Amino acid sequence: MTPDCILLVQGLSKHFGGVKAVTGIDLEVHTGETLAIIGPNGAGKTTFYNLLSGRLVPSSGSIQFKDHDITGLPPHVISRLGISRSFQLNNIFTEMTVRENVEVAVTAQRRESWRWANRAAANKAVQQDADALLAELSLAHLSDRVAGTISYGDKRLVEIAMVLATRPELVLLDEPTAGMTPDETGRIIELVRTLARTGHYTFLVTEHDMRVVFDLADRILVMHHGSRLILDAPEVVRADPEVRRAYLGDEAADMMEPA
Ligand SMILES: Nc1ncnc2c1ncn2[C@@H]1O[C@H](COP(=O)(O)OP(=O)(O)OP(=O)(O)O)[C@@H](O)[C@H]1O
Ligand SMILES: [Mg+2]
Repeated sequence: MTPDCILLVQGLSKHFGGVKAVTGIDLEVHTGETLAIIGPNGAGKTTFYNLLSGRLVPSSGSIQFKDHDITGLPPHVISRLGISRSFQLNNIFTEMTVRENVEVAVTAQRRESWRWANRAAANKAVQQDADALLAELSLAHLSDRVAGTISYGDKRLVEIAMVLATRPELVLLDEPTAGMTPDETGRIIELVRTLARTGHYTFLVTEHDMRVVFDLADRILVMHHGSRLILDAPEVVRADPEVRRAYLGDEAADMMEPA
């Protein structure tokens, strides 16, 4: 691995019976970059995330994260090493407050085993972490709201707060703007951009919204039928005739035009 490489994927495949969901993916992700992963429905994007995050064991190939071979390791181990992901569908506890949701995520990832005597201090630390995160994401004003009652866009932001609760280095976002209004989408773009600028995070982002892709991505990986079609700078991907016509369709090709 080169020094600026945070994730090295080699020959990664996942087959479900006869379905080659992911097949022979090679990918080197650079520390600090935002890499968008695009491709039609069923291209294998979520399966790829499931392999990286340990929810699925690869059929073949390897995944190296920093100094660790994480191929086939379980999700909680991969999460503790510094990879955190969001899910394509909303995944928060609707009966709990926003702060409690984030506290759950913070607690779940604590490496320390607290003694009973330290319980109060532990709770305080968790609450402080959660509050800091909520402030960082401009969600502090929603802390005491029951999560089920806030807007869809805010729910997805809370979900991102939960993803960041583990203080990961590599963040996998699966369609973070799906179902959002243009305003809500704008907030997500701004948030990811701001977080990326801190230099603390490397992002992989799957997206169908080309505005998000071209606003955020340093590079774009196009997947098709489970394999890597192209990996390049946005302007190269945008101009690639194969991507435009054969794999994204005319409608998506139009969306790839600069506004
Ligand atoms: N657990 C599974 N069992 C069987 N087939 C699966 C499973 N998970 C995914 N697949 C298949 O693998 C292929 C890739 O699916 P995947 O969900 O990774 O695509 P995607 O690129 O995330 O699509 P979308 O854009 O719709 O989210 C599809 O053909 C899908 O039906
Ligand atoms: Mg998907």
